[in-house]
Amino acid sequence: MKDMSEHEQKTDGVTRDTTPAFVYATTRDWAGYFEVTQGRPPRDTLLHTLELFSREPSDRTRFAVDLGCGEGRDTAELLRQGWKVHAVDGHPDGLTRLMHRDDHHAMERLTMQLASLERVVLPECDLLNASFSMPFCAPDHYEAMWNRIVDAVKVGGRFSGQFFGDRDSWASIPDRSHFTRSQVEAFLSPFDVEMLKEEEREGQDCSGVSKHWHVFHIVARKK
Ligand SMILES: C[S@@+](CC[C@H](N)C(=O)[O-])C[C@H]1O[C@@H](n2cnc3c(N)ncnc32)[C@H](O)[C@@H]1O
Repeated sequence: MKDMSEHEQKTDGVTRDTTPAFVYATTRDWAGYFEVTQGRPPRDTLLHTLELFSREPSDRTRFAVDLGCGEGRDTAELLRQGWKVHAVDGHPDGLTRLMHRDDHHAMERLTMQLASLERVVLPECDLLNASFSMPFCAPDHYEAMWNRIVDAVKVGGRFSGQFFGDRDSWASIPDRSHFTRSQVEAFLSPFDVEMLKEEEREGQDCSGVSKHWHVFHIVARKK
């Protein structure tokens, strides 16, 4: 019989990996990340954004790009709320998992693209959602990626997602993109900012590996 590691828990006879998702994200082990995050609820930034859109009724189907969609926790919510979605990720496992989700029944409103943050060409959209994905863009491509995001969002449309801060533990990893608050504010100048929550806290996995989180949670409306 397989020994239970400190990262595994048995529930109803099923052994589950309880390693925090950040441990996988630290090393870009996206297959491991998707395994532990599968089925998690949509991000609060997306839910807040959808609430803001719901106060501005429209008689047409709105269109979102979910950039770095992973296994589709946000894409599934957008589809459930009647949106058309173009889901983009750089890892095929995320898109495969999204295709096989059974918590939405709207494949006809979903398109998917395997593409990198550094190169993807973005279609015009009402919402550009990038939950916890932009810090993984290579630093020398970040500004160009952000400019493509700004260009893609229609006037009156929104951006929702996260910038990672300069005091986050991952800021010392050379291929990550992290910013000060004033840099984040400068990036957001084409938008009216509707939410800018700066979060700073310690996180730890069960074997004591710690991570300092410094994250800016953003919802913003294009001017
Ligand atoms: C931390 S996960 C976030 C996934 C999902 N949006 C969520 O909120 O859980 C980061 C995602 O970005 C994708 N990603 C990381 N680097 C990328 C890159 N350079 N190009 C495209 N996608 C990338 C990963 O495959 C992964 O799905």
